[in-house]
Amino acid sequence: MVPGITLNDGRTIPQLGFGVFQVPPPDTRAATAKAIEIGYRHIDTAEMYRNEKGVGEAIAASGLDRGEFFVTSKLSNAAHLPDDARRAFDKTLSELGTDYIDLFLIHWPLPTLYDGDFVQTWRTLEEFRKDGRARSIGVSNFTPVHLQRLFDETDTVPAVNQIEIHPYFVNDEFRAFNQKHGIAVEAYSPIAQGEVLDDPAITEIAGRAGKTPAQVVLRWHIQRGDIVFPKSKTEARVRENFEIFDFELDEASMAAITSLDRGEKGRTGGNPDTVDFVPKD
Ligand SMILES: NC(=O)c1ccc[n+]([C@@H]2O[C@H](COP(=O)([O-])OP(=O)(O)OC[C@H]3O[C@@H](n4cnc5c(N)ncnc54)[C@H](OP(=O)(O)O)[C@@H]3O)[C@@H](O)[C@H]2O)c1
Repeated sequence: MVPGITLNDGRTIPQLGFGVFQVPPPDTRAATAKAIEIGYRHIDTAEMYRNEKGVGEAIAASGLDRGEFFVTSKLSNAAHLPDDARRAFDKTLSELGTDYIDLFLIHWPLPTLYDGDFVQTWRTLEEFRKDGRARSIGVSNFTPVHLQRLFDETDTVPAVNQIEIHPYFVNDEFRAFNQKHGIAVEAYSPIAQGEVLDDPAITEIAGRAGKTPAQVVLRWHIQRGDIVFPKSKTEARVRENFEIFDFELDEASMAAITSLDRGEKGRTGGNPDTVDFVPKD
């Protein structure tokens, strides 16, 4: 049974989900359907992944009520201006084939674009929350500096902040800032896109626990209280990643994994202060 985390707006999010970054659009429906069959009810997609349609089709075909699912999507970097964001959000709902989304995020703050004005973008997400089409709203890749601007200039504290976190980039300072302000932390690239799985410290703990390295790392996140949604297009791994609630890591194992941190060098993704990628269409 996947535990729920209560967000600052009173809604509950399953702590484990299925991420679909880099799942090719034509494969997304089948991959998501398989994840649903295994038991996942929380799916993390984004406009820029171009695979919201496949997620929506799998949910529709599952035969389960829409209310059983927790679906997250994220605003494209190309759509930060308010009218663009409104159009993009309409398209997200239509691609997903749903009249509401559980959680909608600003994907990147883009402080070097749009005159650095992600506040106008956040106000537009506040509209989606007010009209009920986004049950919760949040951000991704926001640093404490970016968050502070939202606290100072708007009325809504984000429900979540989705940031890169894994044993090579534990990001504890940013996690603590979010926690202090009641923002739930979502850890993306939780197994560093596979890079941490051969680490001798992790394989040793996995051997002792009788679990795989991926299960040990995902369990580490769960015990830290973060929300995770590992991605895999391999059915056996999707299943394996779901089987992390029948064992516990002791304090020494938790500390040993945390000590693998490599700081900034450990990132697999971009630095939010400089990322300025904008998709062309
Ligand atoms: N907000 C953001 O900017 C942002 C950025 C990155 C990611 N995300 C979100 O976070 C999710 C997860 O992050 P991610 O996709 O970057 O990386 P990840 O989940 O850390 O790793 C995915 C990679 O690990 C492999 N893998 C998965 N489970 C495995 C297992 N049990 N054993 C061995 N290898 C395994 C997958 O291979 P196969 O697929 O080949 O099996 C894939 O290559 C994304 O899907 C997305 O939803 C958000």
